[in-house]
Amino acid sequence: MRKYFLIGTITIAIAFVFGNLYALPQSPDGKAVYKRKCARCHGDNGEPQKKGVTDLRTSDLTDAEALNIITNGEEKMPAFKKKLTPDEIKAVATYAKKFRK
Ligand code: HEC
Repeated sequence: MRKYFLIGTITIAIAFVFGNLYALPQSPDGKAVYKRKCARCHGDNGEPQKKGVTDLRTSDLTDAEALNIITNGEEKMPAFKKKLTPDEIKAVATYAKKFRK
């Protein structure tokens, strides 16, 4: 009998852990955000699509500077603080850094 009790307890414990993992909020997908919000100006690979847009492949901003520009905008670069959550901004900034050589 004890054995069945143990197996039952373990099954419930496993179900509990996986149930909670599943319920955790997923961290935002930087690539998806980029395609949706940035690619029309910055291209799929950071290559500018319009005059005056900075080439993200040759950007040398620090993380803090890039986060600030994405959040608050600069010149023709739109501010995203009302369109994206802080987590989405971080995820998209991390993704955009991958274009650098
Ligand atoms: C409407 C077009 C447009 C969209 C959409 C846009 N940007 Fe920009 N972005 C610009 C322009 C224009 C600049 C140059 C700003 C300046 O003159 O200082 C810029 C500059 C930047 C810079 C600074 C690069 C550097 O080295 O100075 C970063 C980083 C950046 N954009 C990231 C993003 C991200 C990430 C997104 C999507 C969340 C995005 N941009 C969406 C137009 C856009």
